[in-house]
Amino acid sequence: MRTGLVFHGGELRLRTATVRDHGALMALWLRNGIAVRDGDDRRGVGLMLRRNKGLSIVATMDGAIVGSVLVTWDGRRGWLHHLAVERACRRAGVASLLVAEAERRLRAMGATRVKAEVYSRNRASRALFRSMGYEQYERLLTFGKRL
Ligand SMILES: CC(C)(COP(=O)(O)OP(=O)(O)OC[C@H]1O[C@@H](n2cnc3c(N)ncnc32)[C@H](O)[C@@H]1OP(=O)(O)O)[C@@H](O)C(=O)NCCC(=O)NCCS
Repeated sequence: MRTGLVFHGGELRLRTATVRDHGALMALWLRNGIAVRDGDDRRGVGLMLRRNKGLSIVATMDGAIVGSVLVTWDGRRGWLHHLAVERACRRAGVASLLVAEAERRLRAMGATRVKAEVYSRNRASRALFRSMGYEQYERLLTFGKRL
């Protein structure tokens, strides 16, 4: 899918992420401050992609991955994870394109609400989600447990 965005003479495209992207995705996440955790190894990402077919998206420029969003739908809510854009490509609307395309794909599957978890210290991400119309739930805390 073409986007019409051009950086340094290269054209930005969006396409569905596959497990073959795992190495490049891991490098993108590590370079761009994404907290890589359990489930982010090739097996975990592959399982997630199979269970959520056609939802996760990469942004590429001249074939190289410069952005990502992992997208899941649990049948009730859509979730966005690991939204990341290479530093050199930021503030040009790449994350906004990724999020808008993720929302379009979720809507097409029947999802009516989408959520994302963001560290409170992450100003860029907070601003990005606010700019895309996401509401911040002031009174909600996230709980987690290792199984
Ligand atoms: C957060 C991130 C994905 C944004 O990507 P991006 O492609 O630069 O975002 P966009 O260009 O689509 O930004 C859209 C809007 O979001 C807001 N925004 C994005 N980055 C911002 C920043 N650093 N400071 C303030 N506002 C910001 C602005 O309103 C911006 O619109 P504008 O450029 O017209 O002012 C990127 O900074 C990133 O990869 N950060 C490191 C990884 C990360 O923290 N991911 C989030 C995990 S939840």
